[in-house]
Amino acid sequence: MKKTVLLAGGAGYIASHTAIELIAAGYDVVSADCYYNSKPEVFNRIEKITGVKVKNYDVDVCDMEALDKVFAENRIDAVVHFAGYKAVGESVEKPMMYYQNNLDSTFSLIKVMKKYGCDNMVFSSSATVYGMQKVVPFVETMQTGPCTNPYGWTKLMNEQILMDFANADENLSVVLLRYFNPVGAHKSGLIGEDPAGIPNNLMPFISQVAVGKREHLNVFGNDYDTHDGTGVRDYIHVVDLAKAHVKAIDYALEHKGSEVFNIGTGVGYSVLDMVKAFEKANDIKVPYVIAPRRPGDIDTCYADSTKAADILGWKAEKTLEDMCRDTWNWQKNNPNGYDA
Ligand code: WQD
Repeated sequence: MKKTVLLAGGAGYIASHTAIELIAAGYDVVSADCYYNSKPEVFNRIEKITGVKVKNYDVDVCDMEALDKVFAENRIDAVVHFAGYKAVGESVEKPMMYYQNNLDSTFSLIKVMKKYGCDNMVFSSSATVYGMQKVVPFVETMQTGPCTNPYGWTKLMNEQILMDFANADENLSVVLLRYFNPVGAHKSGLIGEDPAGIPNNLMPFISQVAVGKREHLNVFGNDYDTHDGTGVRDYIHVVDLAKAHVKAIDYALEHKGSEVFNIGTGVGYSVLDMVKAFEKANDIKVPYVIAPRRPGDIDTCYADSTKAADILGWKAEKTLEDMCRDTWNWQKNNPNGYDA
């Protein structure tokens, strides 16, 4: 019988790509999202790509009564927990909002899962849990924290909470995925990243400059200890990342306890590498100026993803060119994101 996966925060950037890969792998998908930072239009796009209309609930997953209804109406076998606020700067200004929402969502999900006998969760974590580590590549066994902002702390706290729950409950299975820097879009150009307001992250900013929405990119610092002085990160295509979730769900359904995996390519590119690759892949200019460093940024961050390869049988397959081309294909076809 087909298994059903609930995507908590299912209308978001990574969740929507994950929905497509789960459907392709033979899972039924249900979404619960309150559209705080996403749009229900994404489900029409997913239907165009897959032919499947994802059953979606306009539900804040912190609201246990509303969440209960989702579980009462569907036999949920596993949950991917994407639901959370994600803006680093905002989390510094509004820590209560971040801690309350990002932790409450986990508590209510686990409680309702328990009530309905659903014991499998994949959690959307982040390389941010490694804090200001200076040794690369980052390996799962390395020390985590201290984090540099409340957003990062909520990821690390959620990891700890979920590991403790799995430790105390022999039926529970928890897989923690530490994402590096997700970029790109589905190759159809129908779904992609749709940040609200001024993008915080590099790739959405580059593509908004390319489409003429912003004048130039500010390169935050060119005096880092890297090959060209600009920050180096492990950019991973969102479709590769989505496929990692399918492997993680397969794994969670067959194992008990908790396990953590880095999900990255293992290769680092600088800000200027990304600008050049984007220009080359799409034959378009991306004007930039060198600006001061952004507080909290580190020189270099990239993953050791050997564990994901060995245990999940997952490896990133897409190239930097794929990332740049697919980002642009989405941006140029949807200059205003999901707003018509
Ligand atoms: C990448 C590089 C910047 C924007 C953050 C969060 C992390 C995770 C992903 C998500 C850095 C430089 C950026 C710009 C620039 N969270 N840059 N000009 O900082 O690695 O990770 O996003 O939900 O928790 O910390 O990603 O894309 O912001 O930056 O020069 O306008 O690009 O300094 O070197 P980061 P990023």
